[in-house]
Amino acid sequence: MTRIIEKRELVKDIHEMVLAAPLIAAKAQPGHFVLVMPEEKGERIPLTIADYDRDNGTITLIFMVVGTTTMKLSRLNASENLYALVGPLGHPSEIEDHGTVAMVAGGIGTAPIYPIARSLRERGNRVISIQGARREDLLFWTEQLASVSDEHIITTDDGSFGRKGLVSEPLKEILENDKEKRIGCVYAIGPAIMMKFCSLTTKPFGVKTITSLNSVMVDGTGMCGGCRVNVGGKTLFTCVDGPEFDGHLVDWDLLMDRQKIYLKEEKCSLDRYMEEVGGK
Ligand SMILES: Cc1cc2nc3c(=O)[nH]c(=O)nc-3n(C[C@H](O)[C@H](O)[C@H](O)COP(=O)(O)OP(=O)(O)OC[C@H]3O[C@@H](n4cnc5c(N)ncnc54)[C@H](O)[C@@H]3O)c2cc1C
Ligand code: FES
Repeated sequence: MTRIIEKRELVKDIHEMVLAAPLIAAKAQPGHFVLVMPEEKGERIPLTIADYDRDNGTITLIFMVVGTTTMKLSRLNASENLYALVGPLGHPSEIEDHGTVAMVAGGIGTAPIYPIARSLRERGNRVISIQGARREDLLFWTEQLASVSDEHIITTDDGSFGRKGLVSEPLKEILENDKEKRIGCVYAIGPAIMMKFCSLTTKPFGVKTITSLNSVMVDGTGMCGGCRVNVGGKTLFTCVDGPEFDGHLVDWDLLMDRQKIYLKEEKCSLDRYMEEVGGK
């Protein structure tokens, strides 16, 4: 059992949860994820460790409600318990000297981007972050991300805050204006379609682009094959080989197809759960 220390809704359908997990907090690094089981009879889902506090023995998760398990999680509150929590899992991000890095976060991608940006800056890199959301009221952790960035650009699809448009647009301009080739690396994390287009944007400039793949997972330890992806023509497992991969080598269309494999079952599961809880 894992105790929930704090829980709040940051913006509509996006929740922050602070958990008492001293063993995980002691080992957590940017890029790591955990597997979470809200209750005994249910599935486990992967969530990125968005922050950790080794002194207090806590980790912070941020999740968007998209289906049954994230809906169940959203209904738990501080002082309640999660049935199970496993981690840290996956390879941590490689925190290297790149000179300048562009950190591109789409939607919920702000959560995994934040600890990576912080560590890259602590390492001495200049950090330019581009944070995008569909609308102003869906932006979260803007101050946190700004606090670890030398430059912080916000975009919204509808122009309700910051620059109107997609995150790939300022990314392209930054690369076009980077005549001295100072940008040594781009991180792009968010929905698969956003990571695909950021990777297509950076490819002509030849800038290394790291993405974090959100394939469907079951065990998270390399045994089921559920999270398999194709990277550079090889079949790899997101859970044990990733979750970060070179965005220029990922077969994005395959990833997006595989994310939809269980849509019918996921809808059925959510409908049944909502019926059980009386549609509330
Ligand atoms: C390594 C890793 C880290 C992740 N970190 C985070 C995080 O920090 N915060 C967060 O909100 N989400 C994160 N995700 C995605 C999260 O695991 C899924 O949103 C969750 O499993 C959905 O479970 P569900 O039962 O609520 O929805 P489901 O009913 O399983 O799915 C509902 C909808 O979400 C889509 N979906 C299902 N699984 C995934 C998935 N793994 N990734 C993307 N879309 C999916 C389905 O196609 C469907 O449309 C991460 C995924 C991975 C692989
Ligand atoms: S989740 Fe089973 S192999 Fe990766």
